[in-house]
Amino acid sequence: QRPLRRLLSCPGTVVAPLGKEEQSSGSAETGSEDRTPKKRFSEVQKERREQAQRTVLIHCPNKISEKKFLKYLSQHGPVNSHFFYESFGLYAVVEFSQKESVASLQNVTRTPSLGTEAAIPFRSRYFNLKLKPPLNQTSEQSSIQCRNQSSSSKKLFELLCCAESVDDQLNTLLREFQLTEENSKLRYLTCSLIEDVAAAYFPGCTVRPFGSSVNSFGKLGCDLDMFLDLDEIENFSTHKASGNFLMEFQVKNVPSERIATQKILSVIGECLDHFGPGCVGVQKILNARCPLVRFSHQASGFQCDLTTNNRIALKSSELLYIYGALDSRVRALVFSIRCWARAHSLTSSIPGAWITNFSLTVMVIFFLQRRSPPILPTLDYLKTLADAEDKCIIEGHNCTFVRDFNRIKPSGNTETLELLLKEFFEYFGNFAFNKNSINIRQGREQNKPESSPLHIQNPFETSLNISKNVSQSQLQKFIDLARESAWILHQEDRDRLSPSNNQPWGLAALLLPSVANSTSLAKKKKKPASERIKNLLESIKSSSTENSTATNR
Ligand code: GTP
Ligand code: MG
Repeated sequence: QRPLRRLLSCPGTVVAPLGKEEQSSGSAETGSEDRTPKKRFSEVQKERREQAQRTVLIHCPNKISEKKFLKYLSQHGPVNSHFFYESFGLYAVVEFSQKESVASLQNVTRTPSLGTEAAIPFRSRYFNLKLKPPLNQTSEQSSIQCRNQSSSSKKLFELLCCAESVDDQLNTLLREFQLTEENSKLRYLTCSLIEDVAAAYFPGCTVRPFGSSVNSFGKLGCDLDMFLDLDEIENFSTHKASGNFLMEFQVKNVPSERIATQKILSVIGECLDHFGPGCVGVQKILNARCPLVRFSHQASGFQCDLTTNNRIALKSSELLYIYGALDSRVRALVFSIRCWARAHSLTSSIPGAWITNFSLTVMVIFFLQRRSPPILPTLDYLKTLADAEDKCIIEGHNCTFVRDFNRIKPSGNTETLELLLKEFFEYFGNFAFNKNSINIRQGREQNKPESSPLHIQNPFETSLNISKNVSQSQLQKFIDLARESAWILHQEDRDRLSPSNNQPWGLAALLLPSVANSTSLAKKKKKPASERIKNLLESIKSSSTENSTATNR
């Protein structure tokens, strides 16, 4: 009976802000290409990393001839690809075909001589291009096409209201907010530039992106999580251990791994602060559970979190990447739930008692494992499919799972995204959070081992809870909103034959500020609003089951 074409007028709908990161104007590249991962995680990482090493970032004058610019650069070797973007000025990302071209460009680049200030001469791959006066270069400039690095919530609402069905809405949201090819390139390039700074102290180190930049659930504007990998340096020595002797570096010892991490990050934080081109607002957050250095990379506009000794997080990113690749509904559903949570301030860019996007993603995965037939396999099942090469033990934790997702049989489940969205809200609107823990390793609820309001087992460090930070009131807010959203979608089902015009519908209606949001209002009443919604929902469902049974007879 679906999809039902909507009769609503589209433009001019009141929009709810989706959060700071999405508010900038402009729209994402709307290419309809399906960016569901198709290659192995390690292959993508390797390819992107190598590409980033041949790439440079150039701050350009606002008026520039693209043709002359490319001609100038190609003196150093063929250019594979390039694009421009704006972020407080015009920037170009230029990928050469060969790494040598970068060195050639660096060789003809000078350190600027400043007036009253002095430059710290650091030869990076981030350049500043100036036009030489007095040649009248401005006369024949072509206009530069810039790639936007953000998407607007206003445009999204218009698109959502014009969609044909709720499924179409979820896919539209994914298309609008997923990282574009250019944005991904810029993320790998930024890591590569930071690696150059870190390599000043630790030659041979690697800086890898992880988290939502690479797990296929990243939204335009999301932070850039980086992992400083010093293990490869250690690997050098293991290869050369032959003969009667074993050579070791003289090193300084510290009492624990944590202190080593803090010391390394402290010095890298100083480097970034003192001579990292474009790195501003450097904060060393070394006493956190997972010590990190946070800074803004001005040119790319990314908020960066640099950690080290955090290999499990990288493995978690790979696991989410695989789950995202297994079924095209996964990413669409996760994006919508993440956006929904952000729109209702369930998540925040500030750390606190909020649910994180990581936890939300694990909740969606768990929900999809619980469908019948399941849409996603359990982590234990992925472990049984692993071969010897997939074996991975990190700090005593077994992180093994199959990495080639072509070896995993697709699900026979054909449920629509609309149904899944509605069922997600119902499922978690009624979940026994007080006694059960969410566990994607086994794909079923477990008794909660401790009393945190929300318990989601860490997939690899199984004694840990990834949502330990979530307070009872935040969990209650999540439950209330989930019930209300299930209610809205059910109501729409009933009103479907007589849609009220000019009202945001489906996903767009769910992203609007809600009554459940004002918890103070709900608290004053004897029975909480969400309880009433839950009861109403149950009565609608039981009456519709009765009806359908009656018609089936
Ligand atoms: P965004 O909100 O878009 O940044 O999502 P994200 O997935 O990047 O989350 P975040 O930046 O908070 O964390 C980055 C990565 O660290 C996640 O993808 C996880 O792999 C890992 N991570 C985050 N929080 C936890 C946690 O509580 N426990 C564990 N084990 N890993 C975590
Ligand atoms: Mg992140």
